[in-house]
Amino acid sequence: MPDTGEKRFRMSDTAETPPAQDLPAQDPSAIAVALTGWNPAPWVARFAAAAPGRRIIVAPDETTPLPPRYHLFCWKPSQALLNRTPRPLLIASAGAGVDHILKANPPPGVPISRVVDPDLTGRMVEYVVLHTLMHLRRMTEASQHQRARRWKSADFPPARAVTVGVMGVGEMGRAAAQGLMALGFTVIGWGRSARQGLPFETYAGAEGLDAFLRRTDMLVNLLPSTPETRGLVNRALLEKLNRASPLGGAVFINGGRGDACNEAELAAALRDGALRSASLDVFVTEPLPADSPFWGMENVVLTPHRAADSTPDAVVAAVMGEIGRIEAGLAPLNSVDPVRGY
Ligand code: NDP
Ligand code: OXD
Repeated sequence: MPDTGEKRFRMSDTAETPPAQDLPAQDPSAIAVALTGWNPAPWVARFAAAAPGRRIIVAPDETTPLPPRYHLFCWKPSQALLNRTPRPLLIASAGAGVDHILKANPPPGVPISRVVDPDLTGRMVEYVVLHTLMHLRRMTEASQHQRARRWKSADFPPARAVTVGVMGVGEMGRAAAQGLMALGFTVIGWGRSARQGLPFETYAGAEGLDAFLRRTDMLVNLLPSTPETRGLVNRALLEKLNRASPLGGAVFINGGRGDACNEAELAAALRDGALRSASLDVFVTEPLPADSPFWGMENVVLTPHRAADSTPDAVVAAVMGEIGRIEAGLAPLNSVDPVRGY
């Protein structure tokens, strides 16, 4: 979901839904909705509908009075908000990624959840499938020919001749791999730990990376942003991609996080042909600064962090499930390990 840079919208300090008739003796815990750069209105409305009788606190900041028991639903929260007392019972990310929470030093011991949901995953599959096909069929060049009114195209191989290497074989990576395999692509994956039982070949850890890259014609990044993954995609890594690719040059698709890349080295590789083309959805700085070289590159398809949007209907249902688990004394279903970083 993009940070639109729009000002935080404040409907009021709190939006209270009418109390239910049979409230338990203790008020149900509240839900604080803190979404930096997003319009909170549809989220607040959805939570109010899904959680009647609960207090919904809209866009709390460092001074908003907080009740003793509340859950914090957030995107890019400030460190000050995360560390307010009373502590939240749950810190729930509004997306699949949690780098925006972990960077703000959440209080130790408070459970953190992230979104795993078929709607979000399905959107990422659409993004990956769309962009791999676009580069397979050389659509960046086709657009240039169209603008120049040229009846011209280059040859392209069939999907089955192309190996897509997916970095990150978690929820998004596995689903994207299956979508690509259905189209006939050969898919290989790379993760932190060895995974058994997947319907495609995988490599693991630093020791498996080079062998994975050497086979890869199109590289898809679906890794989370962690201290280990930041800056991973640099010139040296890109030069290890299959030099004899049937595409006539390697392709990079980034739907994970921008800080996986050394952007200066990525831009240079796209300029000098070390990379044939790229699709970039995420960037080190978002919104992408006006002077970024990526804006003007004809071999780059750029989207504003929209690969897989969080939508209120799907995400609020998933978060209400996590809240139910916390209140039943259970850990979140999609729990984050702050030490591992995802
Ligand atoms: P998961 O946690 O399910 O999967 C993460 C994968 O990355 C796992 O396979 C994990 O390995 C692997 N990984 C983590 N660290 C390393 C490392 N150091 N080396 C190798 N592999 C590593 O996450 P999701 O699939 O749900 O989401 C992935 C990311 O996609 C999110 O964190 C977010 O950044 C991004 N995203 C972007 C969106 C967009 O709109 N652009 C929307 C939604 C998500 P292992 O299998 O061993 O654990
Ligand atoms: C996410 C995102 O992490 O939209 O869900 O980036």
